[in-house]
Amino acid sequence: MKALSCAVALTLAGAANAAPDAGERAQALVAKMTQDEKLRLVFGYFGAEFNGTVPPKEAIPATAGYIHGVPRLNIPPQWQTDAGLGVASQPAPSPRARTSLPSGLATASTWNPRLAYEAGAMIGREARLSGHNVMLGGSVNLMREPRNGRNFEYAGEDPLLAGVMTGEQVRGIQSNQVIGTVKHFAFNDQETNRTTIDVKIGEAAGRMSDLLALQIAIERGNPGSVMCSYNLVNGVYACENDWLLNKVLKQDWGFRGYVMSDWGAVHSTIPAANGGLDQQSGWPFDKSPYFGPALKEAVNNGHVPAARLDDMAQRILWAMFAHGVMDAPPPVVEPEKIDFAAHAQVSRQAAEEGIVLLKNAGDLLPLAAGVRSIAIIGGHADVAVISGGGAAQVHPQGGSAVKGEGPKSFPGPIVWLPSSPKDALAARTKARITYHDGKSAEGAKRAAAGADIAIVFATQWTAESIDTPSLSLPERQDALIAAVAGANRRTIVVLETGGPVTMPWLDKVSAVLAAWYPGTAGGEAIARVLSGEVNPSGRLAATFPASEAQLPRPKIDGDPSSKEGRFRTDYDIEGAAVGYKWYERTKKKPLFAFGHGLSYTTFAYGDLQAREEGGKVIVEFTVTNTGRRAGHAVPQVYAGSHTGKWEAPRRLAGWDKVLLQPGERKAVSVTVDPRILSVYDAAAGRWMRSSGDIEFTLGGASDATAARAVLGMK
Ligand code: BGC
Repeated sequence: MKALSCAVALTLAGAANAAPDAGERAQALVAKMTQDEKLRLVFGYFGAEFNGTVPPKEAIPATAGYIHGVPRLNIPPQWQTDAGLGVASQPAPSPRARTSLPSGLATASTWNPRLAYEAGAMIGREARLSGHNVMLGGSVNLMREPRNGRNFEYAGEDPLLAGVMTGEQVRGIQSNQVIGTVKHFAFNDQETNRTTIDVKIGEAAGRMSDLLALQIAIERGNPGSVMCSYNLVNGVYACENDWLLNKVLKQDWGFRGYVMSDWGAVHSTIPAANGGLDQQSGWPFDKSPYFGPALKEAVNNGHVPAARLDDMAQRILWAMFAHGVMDAPPPVVEPEKIDFAAHAQVSRQAAEEGIVLLKNAGDLLPLAAGVRSIAIIGGHADVAVISGGGAAQVHPQGGSAVKGEGPKSFPGPIVWLPSSPKDALAARTKARITYHDGKSAEGAKRAAAGADIAIVFATQWTAESIDTPSLSLPERQDALIAAVAGANRRTIVVLETGGPVTMPWLDKVSAVLAAWYPGTAGGEAIARVLSGEVNPSGRLAATFPASEAQLPRPKIDGDPSSKEGRFRTDYDIEGAAVGYKWYERTKKKPLFAFGHGLSYTTFAYGDLQAREEGGKVIVEFTVTNTGRRAGHAVPQVYAGSHTGKWEAPRRLAGWDKVLLQPGERKAVSVTVDPRILSVYDAAAGRWMRSSGDIEFTLGGASDATAARAVLGMK
């Protein structure tokens, strides 16, 4: 019997790094705890001063959070840090400086799960060396809303890609005896009125979209914790949503870790405790210390069963055992042990594999050796690259390279990471390079006209708590680019944006690179791609719409000027047809399709076959480098069903990232997740595999089909 329960525990934990006896150890420890000790574990403090409230003295200054330990039982405190791009700092006079990964969307655009793991392992290491044992990333809210101010933290619009990449990042984080956190659970897909907006979504559509991304991330990453979100889902706050937390997450998915609230996302004691919340975070962000004395009273009065408090403590301890937090010595703050040079290389690699070459007319890129002069314009490209704002903000060594921009308080100011694209490019070309700040279009035009090539760096700052007002580049940069392109037809645009933007000037420029927020070594990553030292291999993890009119909600629901106003948003408009699925379903042609991305070489795809073997669907094909440079292909397989009543004509079914020398051909095999070939049946409470013909399409982007194969499913 004991052997059996152990085997069950292993299967449920679903990951190699979960100690097999974590559940038993947690249970035994809870049995020794007093009620007050259990209550200590379920109540978290903000790690910085807030509205005059000072954090416990044991907290690490300017951090996300702190939870007391139980010294009598050797339970260490939990020291929490944001987040998915590196060790962040809350606003402080001299915030800690750490390595910043490129944005989550950039890492997703690498389509390289191994890189996501290594990126996670690197920031997890920095977290531990910064004294933390809980990290508040991976972040995987699906990109339903390209104007969402937090898209830069997330992993794009496809549940499979986003889930796999985020899950790998979490596995990497947790390889450091640090608990990872999958967030924000769930449907927190816009920042406008994020704490009061009520998201309407049907169960099947939800399970096949946002929830599928979270589910895959949780299966792959086996996070110790999941953070419930600010918003309401179908009328109930996410952090007291019995259906989301108890039914979907804990019962259906078998999640064994704990649910922590987002900072200020708790609204009650009894509904939250019984609804599945295990730990209140970030006191004093909530209106009341709901999981403090009020929870004790609720347990003593029987409104919250004593077994439920045990369950909360056990889940927290399970995570601490399973991820080595209990067995490792408590982390100490020793940043001097961080190898910043090596970590910058990890960040750079993620950045350069995530940069997407959107357009390259006349093969202007890579820059030819004979280019004599280059005019670099805008984006502070002489000194820095931009980063996204909010709790995920990672601060650079030496502070922001440009000061005084953006809001004075949270989520500002804008932090510019000191990594100069101009200097990095100058080190790689004999061309004479000039810099113009782009503030006057006339001056920029003159600079561009006098050079062989003009490169405009266009930036868009996005941040937690605010969505972008539109998909346009801010601060008249569209006009700047048009002016420069008018003066020099060999104009290249490098976009440093949080997500998709529109490009009214696209026809006028020769080349466009999407460099996202490229992180600590971003300048170098951009220069390496421009110069051809790196052959671009990023592919869009999100569609670039042609205009706001194409979106399911041309205007974001809610009112950014209202703090308390309650609003609703209807996600059943597109249901599970998020991103490219929506465009294909509604036959709209976006500006750039999901999966798009050019290379300095060319690839051919063929020999596509699909078969069923032992209940698994396997798709095989070959990919060949038909050009003259080595490069990474990202072959993508999509599945479509005529009879399956799917939300959209096609779904991403799998992909690979393959390095090919010129002329080289490789065979690739992809095993399809059965859920991609199924529909969730809410009445039956399970996934139903579609029968009939499934058509697999293969290509280098969602809009570039090179081969088709049909598999008849029984
Ligand atoms: C964010 C979370 C973050 C938390 C702690 C909240 O504002 O939504 O993602 O982890 O703050 O800083």
